[in-house]
Amino acid sequence: MDKKYFRSNAVYQIWPRSFCDSNGDGIGDLNGIASKLDYLADLGIGIIWLSPVYRSPNFDYGYDISDYLSINPEFGTLADMDSLIAEAKKRGIRIVMDLVVNHTSSEHRWFVLSKQKDSPYHAFYYWRVGKNGNSEPPNNWTSNFGGSAWTFVPEVGEWYLHLFAPEQPDLDWHNPEVIREVERILRFWLDRGIYGFRCDVINQIWKESLDDGKKKAYVTGQEHYLMKEGNHKILQTLNKDVFSQYDCMTVGETYDVDLLNARRFTDHELDMVFQFEHMNIDKFVLPIFDKKYHPRKLKECLFKWQKGLDWNANYLENHDQTRSIERFGDAGKHWRESGKMLATVLLTLRGTPYIYMGEELGMLDMKPIFTPDEYKDGVDHYVYDTLRKFHFPAKLALKLVHNCNRDNARTPMQWDASKEAGFTTGTPWIKVNPNYEKINAKAEEADPESIRSFYKRLLALRKKDPCLTYGSFEPICTSGRIMAYYRSYEGAMDLIVMNLSGRKVRLPKALYTEKASVLLSNYKGAALAFKKHLRAYESFVCKIH
Ligand code: GLC
Ligand code: CA
Repeated sequence: MDKKYFRSNAVYQIWPRSFCDSNGDGIGDLNGIASKLDYLADLGIGIIWLSPVYRSPNFDYGYDISDYLSINPEFGTLADMDSLIAEAKKRGIRIVMDLVVNHTSSEHRWFVLSKQKDSPYHAFYYWRVGKNGNSEPPNNWTSNFGGSAWTFVPEVGEWYLHLFAPEQPDLDWHNPEVIREVERILRFWLDRGIYGFRCDVINQIWKESLDDGKKKAYVTGQEHYLMKEGNHKILQTLNKDVFSQYDCMTVGETYDVDLLNARRFTDHELDMVFQFEHMNIDKFVLPIFDKKYHPRKLKECLFKWQKGLDWNANYLENHDQTRSIERFGDAGKHWRESGKMLATVLLTLRGTPYIYMGEELGMLDMKPIFTPDEYKDGVDHYVYDTLRKFHFPAKLALKLVHNCNRDNARTPMQWDASKEAGFTTGTPWIKVNPNYEKINAKAEEADPESIRSFYKRLLALRKKDPCLTYGSFEPICTSGRIMAYYRSYEGAMDLIVMNLSGRKVRLPKALYTEKASVLLSNYKGAALAFKKHLRAYESFVCKIH
């Protein structure tokens, strides 16, 4: 078993715009992040993943990049980035950047030049003549953000493909020049001292054909570009040419990935992938429709991936999802216990854990929920307007947008109980969650029983106990609400037991008669021995004797 840095260290994801503002313009920035490095070192993380900090017109808040080799002026300068890398390094923290290369921004120089048909950049993108005498898009594909995946540009007389917003034209990876340019970008940042990349929607970069897709409720056309052979080939090339030449890590964002493809992606392509199955267990057909959450589903799903893949990228939150306590825990009465239970899930499964900013505080979704005049994510307006067009009552439309509103995870980090939660001295670009007086870093750092203190203890434990870092995963068969497993390494063994639900549940005898001492629990002074029941969300990490 190789003991690469990313195996023993936890990742902390920062969505820079909302983390910490250093100059009072209401927008988080690199110097703000630098000022919180001590906070992160104290928490015990070893890697920061920065959501995009490159120059961007922000149609998709950085996921539309107009210059890969410079920093968004709202966030700072290249010098600030260098200093952030150096300051992080002093504290034993490495920095991973977001690599968004399925598409560029429509303001990227390549795309602007590509509008000239005789320019070599024309072939960097999918420019095509439409159907029916060019009056209709070249195919029936729909965008992830709604509507057709094609936009017509009259001055070009052609349509271009965008699997996301029209401001995010897709790069054509069939063009070897695209590969060469991306490799140049990778080396530029790796040579500056970054530790790797989180690769945005990386399992759909290769469009196998541009034929019509099977009509679907959500995103038509995927069978022509999800996880195609060419996709694997490109990643093998990037790996051979660049990744394997550096001490770095890569993690792919791979929507809808199956085990087979995940195994391929993690074999001489990337180090890890984010699977999405557990993000769909409380969704019905479309992300706007939620369905009752069953703890058993979460367990089955996580177990499947634990057993199926040697090393997982474990996560419960990111900048695209609503907050995990709202989904898998209890935002009310058992906020604290369920937050700690979810921390136990995240940090004791085998793999690299990814903590999303504020998750360690138990941050929650916006309440009262966002209204259209407050929406910042462009997708919200589209979804809301579409629902209204189909005569959904306003109140219901608001609720449905809320179910998948990415702004929930993008409210400012809650640092303390002062105005604007200590995020900025100015006016924050997006509303602060009004619950910041109760949920904030300062209060939680001072409280040994807080969710943050639990994260800190658990991160320290994971680091020093090789069972939790490198140990094998052995599931234990229990009823649906209980999740239990062993992690063993070189003759030592840990037992992890959790109640995934808010109800009292009975423990199987084999578990409570186990000779085990408690290393960490989310209830004060709790012991496992001869304990026949678990309380709401009660969880244990134990050492077996
Ligand atoms: C990924 C990102 C998301 C972005 C999309 C398009 O899913 O996580 O935030 O909108 O890709 O780049
Ligand atoms: Ca700022």
